[in-house]
Amino acid sequence: MIGFDKMKSTLQLRLSFTLAGLLVLMLFAARSARAQTRQVFRLDGGNSTYAFGVNERGDLQTLYWGGRLGPDDKIPAAHSYMEWASFDSSYTTTPQEYAGWGAGLFTEPALKVSFADGNRDLVLHFVQATPNGAQSLEVELKDISREVYVTLKYSIDADSGILSRSANIKNREKQSIVVEQAAAAQWTLPPDRYMLSYLTGRWAGEWTLNQEPIHPGSRVIESRRGSTGHQANPWFAISRDASQKNAGPITAAEEYGEVWFGALAWSGSWRLTVEVNELDFVRVTGGFNPFDFRYKLNPGEHLETPVFYGGYSDHGLGGASRVLHRFEIANVLPHAPNPKPRPVIYNSWEATEFKVDEPGQVALAEKAASIGVDRFVMDDGWFGQRKTDHAGLGDWYVNPEKFPNGLKPLIDKVHGLGMDFGLWVEPEMVNPDSDLYRKHPDWVLNFPGRPRSEQRNQLVLNLARSDVRDYVEGFLDKLLSENDIAFLKWDYNRNWSEPGWDQAPVDQQQRVYVEYIRNLYAILSHLRNKHPNVEIESCSGGGGRVDLGILHYTDEVWPSDNTDPFDRLSMQDGFSYAYPPQIMMAWVTDSPHWLNSRSTSLTYRMLSSMQGSLGIGANLNHWTAEDFATAKRLIAAYHSVQPTIVRGDLYRLISPRDGSEMSATESVARDKNQAVVFAFTHSTQEGRGFPLLQLQGLDPDAEYQLTFIEGKGLAGTPTSASGAWWMHYGVWLDLRGDFQAAAFRLDRQH
Ligand code: GLA
Repeated sequence: MIGFDKMKSTLQLRLSFTLAGLLVLMLFAARSARAQTRQVFRLDGGNSTYAFGVNERGDLQTLYWGGRLGPDDKIPAAHSYMEWASFDSSYTTTPQEYAGWGAGLFTEPALKVSFADGNRDLVLHFVQATPNGAQSLEVELKDISREVYVTLKYSIDADSGILSRSANIKNREKQSIVVEQAAAAQWTLPPDRYMLSYLTGRWAGEWTLNQEPIHPGSRVIESRRGSTGHQANPWFAISRDASQKNAGPITAAEEYGEVWFGALAWSGSWRLTVEVNELDFVRVTGGFNPFDFRYKLNPGEHLETPVFYGGYSDHGLGGASRVLHRFEIANVLPHAPNPKPRPVIYNSWEATEFKVDEPGQVALAEKAASIGVDRFVMDDGWFGQRKTDHAGLGDWYVNPEKFPNGLKPLIDKVHGLGMDFGLWVEPEMVNPDSDLYRKHPDWVLNFPGRPRSEQRNQLVLNLARSDVRDYVEGFLDKLLSENDIAFLKWDYNRNWSEPGWDQAPVDQQQRVYVEYIRNLYAILSHLRNKHPNVEIESCSGGGGRVDLGILHYTDEVWPSDNTDPFDRLSMQDGFSYAYPPQIMMAWVTDSPHWLNSRSTSLTYRMLSSMQGSLGIGANLNHWTAEDFATAKRLIAAYHSVQPTIVRGDLYRLISPRDGSEMSATESVARDKNQAVVFAFTHSTQEGRGFPLLQLQGLDPDAEYQLTFIEGKGLAGTPTSASGAWWMHYGVWLDLRGDFQAAAFRLDRQH
């Protein structure tokens, strides 16, 4: 019986060791002296170290991902893991950096290809590594016999320790190959009890944080929609699980414990697979969604994957999100490392819907300017024959009845009021009732002879086609060249159906999943280069297109069409695990709210939105003089602390999730000179007061002055005290009742 001896000795050992302990023992015991000469690659940044090496077979094997190791520490060379009896080969038990599907691999492959002669076996071995400074590295792998090469790119950020990984798959065979599955990267953690955090949702209900133990088997988080989607977001975090028996000594919570996290930079169909392999290692594989995926590579062609970012924190999920926010602001956003705080906007969508015209917009603009708004944005309805959502998408001329003199008079008026001007567009869509569709019915995603399923009465233009790409780029370029527009709200209001591309050869049509997104990015990039002062928001019926891919080209996102200020608290909380307040637009709209019929005060609504990048979306024609005064005062207060809120370090002091009756956040400026705190009640019951707020992240030795933006503390709250006082003694707020809110700032006294 194959493997019997090995199993017997293993079973004896199991008597005295836990499985995890046993594995570690076996791994170290297996490393021979010969192994010490094999190459080990190590990347250090921030508080983390990442290492991998070439094992005795030539596989590229993961060695370490976690807290930063000493500069002189020597990481033992890679050695393949044992075969588990006769059923799991060493190839499948050894955690590879980028595993080809072949040689009996049962875990999730990074790459699966089929060859013209029917071979589907792919085993990637190390060829060479090319360092590029201490922080980045390219590693070339090649199949053991075929001319298929993969270049893995690694780059670690010195400040945050966040690692960027991607792969470039090249076909140097004489015949074409088909890539059936291609990940950007695979991540491995050693056996332990872990908790998985991930974000899910739906339209008007985005950004739910889910947390569950990682069990044997696979957990798939994905979008098959052709775009990022509301239903799940390409972000994960893995922390040690405190709730399990036999949990390790260190378990992670909001502010303590080890957390590993990742985010995929892709706005098309994507998939993250979190699996536990036969030896209890946790593997995360992420990249293009293999569902309906088929990318033919002709000889000489290559396929570049998206980037998969990964990071580590030993300060819990709070530490993880702070590291990620810093990285996103410093490295990902278009104006990184110094993106400007977002202007306070006014948007008329909830006030007017499609009923936009020059006098109506001017009236709203005058009122918006009077409260200190910086940017006036006209939403849907200004173009083509767009009176409802049944017509007009695709026809990007100014509607002559609504704007007889074009957009110029409105834009001039907005400028005269001291604001800049922004406009809504939905460039990738077409209504069948449009001149564009009547002229080019073949421009949409479709399978000839099959129904074209409409959603919101619209179809998706096939951006993978070069003529469609040219049209979209052309009309946007013209719009931006002919009008003084500072901002585009770029919307995308449905997902794909019948994703056919019949102009391409049959065996290349499924490239649409990649080429569409590449052309989207190319258009955004072209427009940004040509119109460098224009800023862009990524919107997809709310938060359906938020990921680190689109965020290379867009300055902000619309997290949800749900602007209910209470719902927004938990959405903003969920959002903040993966994305920073800098990009999180948050409008104050009308009460009672259209979605939940919930009534809240203007102050509560303002404070809820002030936790992110503030906007106003209410019908100002219905506001009272008192409303204008409240908004004006709070917008001024917001302007004075905005950099701390949107670029500071965020501490989620009390979570609004899971039916919490209270919530609070604190943002601390990087230099610790200022902190801003927001607190909210849902309902107070049985006379209980607001819980003690012990602040975090301050300089304990500095003196900070307390100023209330809204609300007050209990009697005896000092107006000035040390950072140590605010962090230990804390603040008791005088806050009770339903849907109440308070906010205060602490400023360092020099
Ligand atoms: C989407 C957006 C909204 C609004 C409408 C306009 O739903 O998310 O904010 O722009 O489209 O049709």
